[in-house]
Amino acid sequence: MSVAFDTVIHGGTLVTHYTTEKSDIGISEGKITAIGTVPKSTAKENIDARGLHVLPGVIDSQVHFREPGNEHKEDMESGSKAAILGGVTTVFEMPNTAPPTTTVASFNDKLSRARGRYLCDYGFFIGACEENIRDLSTLEKLPGCVGVKIFMGSSTGTLLIPDDHLLREVLASGTRRAAVHAEDEERLNARLPIRNSGGGPELHPQWRDVKTALLATERLIKLARICERPVHVLHITTRDEIAFLRNAGDIATAECTPQHLTLSAPECYEHLGTYAQMNPPIRDEEHRMGLWQGIADGTVNVIGSDHAPHTKAEKDLGYPDSPSGMPGVQTLLPIMLDHVNAGRLTLERLVELTSAGPSQLYGTTQKGIIKIGYDADLTLVDLNRKMTISKDWIASKCGWSPFLEKKVKGWPVATILRGNVVMRDDQIIGGPIGKAVAFGNP
Ligand code: DOR
Repeated sequence: MSVAFDTVIHGGTLVTHYTTEKSDIGISEGKITAIGTVPKSTAKENIDARGLHVLPGVIDSQVHFREPGNEHKEDMESGSKAAILGGVTTVFEMPNTAPPTTTVASFNDKLSRARGRYLCDYGFFIGACEENIRDLSTLEKLPGCVGVKIFMGSSTGTLLIPDDHLLREVLASGTRRAAVHAEDEERLNARLPIRNSGGGPELHPQWRDVKTALLATERLIKLARICERPVHVLHITTRDEIAFLRNAGDIATAECTPQHLTLSAPECYEHLGTYAQMNPPIRDEEHRMGLWQGIADGTVNVIGSDHAPHTKAEKDLGYPDSPSGMPGVQTLLPIMLDHVNAGRLTLERLVELTSAGPSQLYGTTQKGIIKIGYDADLTLVDLNRKMTISKDWIASKCGWSPFLEKKVKGWPVATILRGNVVMRDDQIIGGPIGKAVAFGNP
């Protein structure tokens, strides 16, 4: 038989967001060109996936890679190495760099820095600020742009849309789904004395309390409905927001992080100190369980890592001088596979949350689904492999993870980007072939 495919992946169990079945996959010129039974003789290269699950490449739709401006924490190369080692084929990167990504020039600067440096595929968010409100509807259509990111409460960096007046203007300027960090700035400011009262990071969820998150999410949904602008609420942390967003599917989608689904207060602050400090904060068990309820009932649409590396020296400054954020792009999949093995969600639901979900929500045209004609982005996982998350494996420049020494069951064993094997058995293969993602009808 003549050679018809560049690569055939044989004998794996293919998992999509709606089905699990044994199937081969044929790949030609970086695209999926056959799904079903594909004879080995038809390929230039065969990959043996017997005993493995073949998932659509994982999309981490919330990462902070710190370039430009804070490359001592992370840069495009180190961040994207961490991504492919963790089975992630595409990242969407946030705009709170220095300078922030708020103009055509700063957006194009990111695109040109990325060329020849990224090991995975990528898209970049545009940050909303007071100065660019009128330009947002144009900026969100730039090739490679995921959409607009709005910070309603201050976090790392300078981006901020602090009140309803500005928020309404931002929501009225553009049509694509906007991603939102929902914490109420006025309440955060009013409660600063709590943060500054001399305690440690256990104060963080008291300062940035449940009401701070819920209030902002309620304000956002009200204005989104008035402006008829779809929004995506990032890193939900409260049971209360899940209950509220359950009835907001007409206008809003929702995201959780593996950290908020795995860690809880007070233990995380006792064990990890400021290394567990992030915005919005890790909360108690009641809220963690509320988030799992949102995973179970469909309220949550996406899991993103909010990969936000800071150096150990910065974290060791002590609360409240320590910056907020934890790395997560490399551990997203292992941590979530461990939850799958523990029976907390199915593998199909995980695929929905980490591939099909982010792809559909932000409107990629080629990613997140195992389908003929789509990019051959695939993550091969060994659901039975038991591993310990070790410092040696971590590629992020920050050199730590909140999950160090955690034992997990389930591990990514190969990452395939547009038909190229870029990671196999924890080793990076080849160079930086990452490309900007295409979005449809932006
Ligand atoms: O904890 C956080 N860190 N939350 C954010 O919203 C930003 C992030 C960062 O960039 O450090």
